Amino acid sequence: MSDQPTALRVRIAILGAGHRGIGAYGSYLLRRPDLAQVVAIADPRLDWLQTAGTLHGVGSEHLYPSWEALLKNENGLDAIIIATPDRLHLAPALAAIRHGVSILLEKPVCPTEAELRRLVTAVRRHRTDVTVAHVLRYTPFFSRIKELLDRGVIGQLQAVRHTEQVGYWHFAHSYVRGNWRRVEDSSPMILAKACHDFDILRWLIGSPCVELSSYGRLGHFSLENAPEGSTDRCDQGCKVERSCPYSAQRIYLERLPPADRWPHNVVSLDTSPEGLSAALHVGPYGRCVYRCDNDVADNQIVSMRFANGVNASLTVSGFTRENTRTIHLMGSHGEIGGNFTKNEITVSDFRIDDKRTSQLTVPGDSEHGGGDEGLVADFIGRVQDRLRHGVTTAALTSLEESIDSHLMAFAAEESRLRGVAVRLQPRPKLRQAAE
Ligand SMILES: NC(=O)c1ccc[n+]([C@@H]2O[C@H](COP(=O)([O-])OP(=O)(O)OC[C@H]3O[C@@H](n4cnc5c(N)ncnc54)[C@H](O)[C@@H]3O)[C@@H](O)[C@H]2O)c1
Repeated sequence: MSDQPTALRVRIAILGAGHRGIGAYGSYLLRRPDLAQVVAIADPRLDWLQTAGTLHGVGSEHLYPSWEALLKNENGLDAIIIATPDRLHLAPALAAIRHGVSILLEKPVCPTEAELRRLVTAVRRHRTDVTVAHVLRYTPFFSRIKELLDRGVIGQLQAVRHTEQVGYWHFAHSYVRGNWRRVEDSSPMILAKACHDFDILRWLIGSPCVELSSYGRLGHFSLENAPEGSTDRCDQGCKVERSCPYSAQRIYLERLPPADRWPHNVVSLDTSPEGLSAALHVGPYGRCVYRCDNDVADNQIVSMRFANGVNASLTVSGFTRENTRTIHLMGSHGEIGGNFTKNEITVSDFRIDDKRTSQLTVPGDSEHGGGDEGLVADFIGRVQDRLRHGVTTAALTSLEESIDSHLMAFAAEESRLRGVAVRLQPRPKLRQAAE
């Protein structure tokens, strides 16, 4: 008899058939039909729902116009992916917990500390296996940096400088024209974009943040900066359209040639030049960036002090050419510098005056430097273990592991708005309040 475990296909439901649910996770599951099967999908955008159903071979009786309808009618699920908009994570997560399934929950898990407490309480009570989509921890790039730090390659870590360069067109797409432009509809930019960065800093530094201060503002994307001759939409005869870096025509049709992937597939299901032009003519992504209803900050910096004495700074900016992250870790006898999209890490050792750069290999043309694949592969593998052996192992990015990143982001926004340094509550307090 073979020792090989029998094939076990995890039965998964996807809540939210958008860029993440279908584009990032669904596409991986399609490539690995031996591991999992998408058996039900929910989304109120019926054309997106239908497209996702066809892609995954899910019959119409298992396609639902809302997460509520899906969770009410589907039984026998092993896992649920929650990839609904930011403000719609807590309710489906609480309902999914009652199904006794493993949950892959998109970040930010909740837009407020009160919601986070409710979620943490429920997850602890039911001992639910929750994996938060902090994909950076699953990338070869950040995993290598963590390994170098843990091996003491640069001695004792003293300080970190981390920069999130959002990229001017990406910022305009998501935070001026797109879903993350308004705090009340999604979350503050420092939570939506940078909870990843807080999470990675917390992980690399290996200690909780105890105090931070933050400055930032919406500095550019507002009406008072609209150039003379600009119009409400880029294709309405705007006089500066050809020289404006944020022109929708230039971004979606010229700088990023039409393709069947992000960000075009967010603009329109029909990603042909004609389909995109039609969507830009009437939809949110064709609006002048100076005349949108956005209110999130377009640049923010955070200074942090950690319990183990390490100091760190984080800069998040929409005003960069590259869409990348760079990091500089300074230790007692060496330093590490890295560029995330180039997958390049340079290590210097002061003791022998040595400097080496290595280039990491990342699978395919994956988004997030291989993190999306790493996350979902790990998630499915752990669900299989639970089903086979009845043993649940905590994810590298479990909800418990993700609490600090969110508390840091909430504190950074509080500091930015109130103009004060904020001390972070020690974790036991959150624990007490939650239990
Ligand atoms: N982990 C990451 O790196 C990462 C990257 C981008 C976005 N995100 C997060 O992932 C989440 C989804 O983002 P996205 O880019 O896929 O957005 P999206 O708008 O492309 O997809 C969200 C989908 O949820 C659907 N939806 C809305 N109400 C629903 C309901 N009641 N029931 C079921 N579905 C519903 C929407 O119609 C939409 O199709 C957000 O919270 C976002 O912040 C995470």
